[in-house]
Amino acid sequence: MKKFLVIGNPIGHSLSPEIHNYWLKKNDIVGIYEKKELKSDGLRDLILKVRKDEIDGLNVTVPFKKEIIPFLDELSLEAEQTQSVNTICLENGKIKGHNTDVGGFELAIKDVKYEVAEKKILIIGAGGVVPSIITALNKMKAARIMLCNRTKNKAEKLKNIFSDLEIVEWGEVPDFNMVINATSSGLKIDDNLNLDFSKIEKGNFFYDVIYNPKETNFLKKGKKLGGKTENGKKMFIYQAALAFNIWHGVYPKIDNNVNELLDK
Ligand code: ATR
Repeated sequence: MKKFLVIGNPIGHSLSPEIHNYWLKKNDIVGIYEKKELKSDGLRDLILKVRKDEIDGLNVTVPFKKEIIPFLDELSLEAEQTQSVNTICLENGKIKGHNTDVGGFELAIKDVKYEVAEKKILIIGAGGVVPSIITALNKMKAARIMLCNRTKNKAEKLKNIFSDLEIVEWGEVPDFNMVINATSSGLKIDDNLNLDFSKIEKGNFFYDVIYNPKETNFLKKGKKLGGKTENGKKMFIYQAALAFNIWHGVYPKIDNNVNELLDK
């Protein structure tokens, strides 16, 4: 039986097993996908298990997407560009790290038919998923990418990798067409980002990487201001579908059951 695993810390909340086990069954693949909470000192042994074919594939989530890289033999172009890996497997005897968050974000934005080209984008936050979002926005030809983070030096570190990034002071809200909440603020239903969007033109796009809760206070604010809103559910589904395709060579069908699995 094939074995797959998502690792992170914490990992209890991860819905990756639900979605991958559903697709394994649907595609008649004999396998199991589980989750495992790890500490940094467990990474080396785990990768050894992939090398020995004891584990067929890994998904990696916060906080290991960068930390895992020294243990790998090769990186895909997108993993290299973002220095962030979320999917791992053995390919021709080499352990390869992929990044499907870039493609996941891109497909989610295309799914809602938003045209990023020539748009001004504001990203809030500088955590693990942000390099993937910036890379996807660049691929989609955004005109400007601005970024603010509560802790400014983390934003400045990102500018070392993405030189065109414009760093904005925390609390300032520059004119934008699309704003992305990439912070973890919103995971708790009462969380509220202390940012004032009321002076921004109406009809902008408010995107939240968070999908549980479905509608964060950030998205509620966006809606009130007459904006288009979208949560991170589609991004999560597409990054999983792209990982499934890397491991199994099959692009899984995203049906209604998949959507419902994530509404728990
Ligand atoms: P990591 O930083 O380990 O990658 P993450 O969950 O990917 O973790 O990122 C957390 C992001 O949410 C950070 O940008 C964090 O801001 P700081 O760098 O200042 O910590 C941001 N964040 C979390 N809670 C926040 C809050 N209440 N207000 C503003 N930003 C917040």
